[in-house]
Amino acid sequence: MVPGAQRTFHSSWMFLAALLLLRGWIELNSFLWTIKRDPPSYFFGTIHVPYTRVWDFVPDNSKEAFQQSGVVYFELDLTNPYTISALARCQMLPPGENLQDVLPRDIYCRLKRHLEYVKLMMPSWMTADQRGKGLYADYLFNAIVGNWERKRPIWIMLMVNSLTEVVVKSRGVPVLDLYLAQEAERLRKQTGAMEKVEEQCHPLNGLNFSQVIFALNQTLLQQESLRAGRLQIPYTTEDLIKHYNCGDLSSVIFSHDSSQVPNFINATLPPQERVTAQEIDSYFRQELLYKRNERMGKRVKALLEEFPDKGFFFAFGAGES
Ligand SMILES: *[C@@H]1O[C@H](CO)[C@@H](O)[C@H](O)[C@H]1NC(C)=O
Ligand SMILES: *[C@@H]1O[C@H](CO)[C@@H](O)[C@H](O)[C@H]1NC(C)=O
Ligand SMILES: *[C@@H]1O[C@H](CO)[C@@H](O)[C@H](O)[C@H]1NC(C)=O
Repeated sequence: MVPGAQRTFHSSWMFLAALLLLRGWIELNSFLWTIKRDPPSYFFGTIHVPYTRVWDFVPDNSKEAFQQSGVVYFELDLTNPYTISALARCQMLPPGENLQDVLPRDIYCRLKRHLEYVKLMMPSWMTADQRGKGLYADYLFNAIVGNWERKRPIWIMLMVNSLTEVVVKSRGVPVLDLYLAQEAERLRKQTGAMEKVEEQCHPLNGLNFSQVIFALNQTLLQQESLRAGRLQIPYTTEDLIKHYNCGDLSSVIFSHDSSQVPNFINATLPPQERVTAQEIDSYFRQELLYKRNERMGKRVKALLEEFPDKGFFFAFGAGES
């Protein structure tokens, strides 16, 4: 289960935890990593899927560690309305600009067509359970897609990527990391965030125009293939949940789909496009992995040193879908 050194880490906290593990500072126990001190502190790998799908599989020692810890840290504080509105603001185009003015005509039209398709399909994608909770397709569509004409293309790309039947079916139940944040609040624990919204958002906004158009084009091509039944997504959220529940750390960490952004490197791409895909991949690796690891590592270390008497529980995403 110890990650092989030659593999690529797709999740920042795992990278940090692996370092600590190698140095003998922590013990490995499924998705809970104990930092030996008194009281102990913990790293816990969460996953961005409905908590009901995984909660029963989270080992009791992880739940106890959470209960016992006085201070809980998340990547972002998602229960804070400021965080949510800052995230939304960061995704917007500059004032006065619209997607239609920014995107090449062909891409804009395909995007519009795809969103119309999703809107049409949404009612059939929803479960009886969701409808029972008063969640309606129109409402859900607007919650995810609303105001799309004002969003930056990179966020449109991520949105399109997540507008799938599986993701839609999972809406309405808090994802595991959000559930833990709500529990921490309910149990009146002290909470904190390891990152600022800008630190997560600005690197994504920093991709240049031709790269973003490439990414959006590839994402649309993929969705269009799916729609036409020519393509099956090879690694689904279901697989991610299965691996997580089996404590199969490496599959979750090392799967391409566990990273925050989709992977465009595709063996059938023509050479020039392959270069662009590789540039995007290394940009994200640099900005979202290495720089972020370093930043988070420093903050974790500083917190542990500043408050030696406190028991911390650091909950970081192990896989996002
Ligand atoms: C975007 O960045 C890539 C890689 O750094 C570069 O080759 C390309 O010329 C840039 N394109 C624009 C429009 O700035
Ligand atoms: C989208 O990608 C396809 C296939 O790689 C390419 O032929 C087409 O020119 C691209 N469209 C745009 C607008 O970049
Ligand atoms: C790889 O790229 C080609 C050309 O853009 C596309 O037709 C194909 O669907 C892509 N495959 C996957 C798995 O995305």
